[in-house]
Amino acid sequence: AVFDARHLHVLPGLIDPHVHLRDPGDATVESIATGTRAALLGGLTAVFDMPNTSPAITDAERLAWKQDHAERVAWCDIGLYVGATKANAEALASLETARGVCAVKVFAGSSTGDLLVEDDASIARVMRHGRRRIAFHSEDEYRLRARAPLFNRGDPYRCHMEWRDEECAALGTRRIIALARETRRPAHILHVSTAAEYAYLRDCRDIATSEVLVNHLTQIAPEAYDTLGGYAVMNPPIRDRRHYDAAWAAVADGTIDTIGSDHAPHPRAKKELPWPDCAAGLTGVQTLVPVMLDHVNAGRLTLGRMVDLMAAGPARVYGAIGKGRIAAGYDADFTIVDMRRQRTIENDWIASPCGWTPFAGKRVTGWPVATVLRGGIAMRDDAIIGAPRGRLVRFLDTA
Ligand code: DOR
Ligand code: ZN
Ligand code: ZN
Repeated sequence: AVFDARHLHVLPGLIDPHVHLRDPGDATVESIATGTRAALLGGLTAVFDMPNTSPAITDAERLAWKQDHAERVAWCDIGLYVGATKANAEALASLETARGVCAVKVFAGSSTGDLLVEDDASIARVMRHGRRRIAFHSEDEYRLRARAPLFNRGDPYRCHMEWRDEECAALGTRRIIALARETRRPAHILHVSTAAEYAYLRDCRDIATSEVLVNHLTQIAPEAYDTLGGYAVMNPPIRDRRHYDAAWAAVADGTIDTIGSDHAPHPRAKKELPWPDCAAGLTGVQTLVPVMLDHVNAGRLTLGRMVDLMAAGPARVYGAIGKGRIAAGYDADFTIVDMRRQRTIENDWIASPCGWTPFAGKRVTGWPVATVLRGGIAMRDDAIIGAPRGRLVRFLDTA
């Protein structure tokens, strides 16, 4: 097929290193098949999928199921996280080197699912096993929940933002860094979201890498809660302008290594429950690239920095083989974008079965017009082309 790329930019295949595709779990919300289709439509060539599924990916048998399933149904390339538990530290060393595994994920704070490893001794034991990337949900809401008198006060969504406060996030992240130094195991801190954490992590580059979420670079509290209600509720929460400004400063000064969506679909019925029953998590795999291109057009970062954070960055942090660059020896994965295309993001464009995006109605400038996977055009102008051809990504030791 002839491809006329005049006026377009050809980027290395962009990667979303943080998605929750819910497989196995609830296919009426999302699955590997639907979520990787959404990824292609949104201009991504690979996604790294979290283990807090139902059941969670924490042993060899469940991982084997997921590897086989992903190889059969994935539309884009995929890496798989394995989940740490209080009981599987010894087994992680062999799980993390299995086919397609990108990292061990530690939930040091409670969120969707039941993968909680919250005490220092258990976290340290997990960190002493293995050599691959280890990634943390470090926010320690769990221990600080006792302090939540704010919980029942006033506006429900503002309560969400307040009780998971900055101190909580900073405590959690400092604790993980201390354990990383003690065990000499470099840590990847997922979804850093507070000014205090960015300031701290700026001086921890020797032992830690960091992720920021597109939501924390795009939405601001309390306005987001006023307009979106439950469709703004996620962990860590959308925060106020001080943190938003600090997130962009951290992107600019090199504190941040990767940008993720934390794509976390839930059924509308659960998003519309009043706080505190409202499910936490927002969709984002399909909107990540358009929203970031809009930030480039608004002058908040350069296209080069965006590629660094969304292709080279994740490939480097996770040790993905053959990904992240356009160069000899790399897969021919490309994201082709039209920086001038203006378009409004709409729910009816969303391929995830849950059918909603917090960015519905947002007008953006910059759009992915084609996704090329290992040399073949897999998406062009909103159409998926051919059969599923996603593969498990291969990874190197990083620790
Ligand atoms: O908001 C969130 N949703 N944060 C998480 O850590 C998990 C995620 C989910 O799986 O729903
Ligand atoms: Zn998380
Ligand atoms: Zn997540």
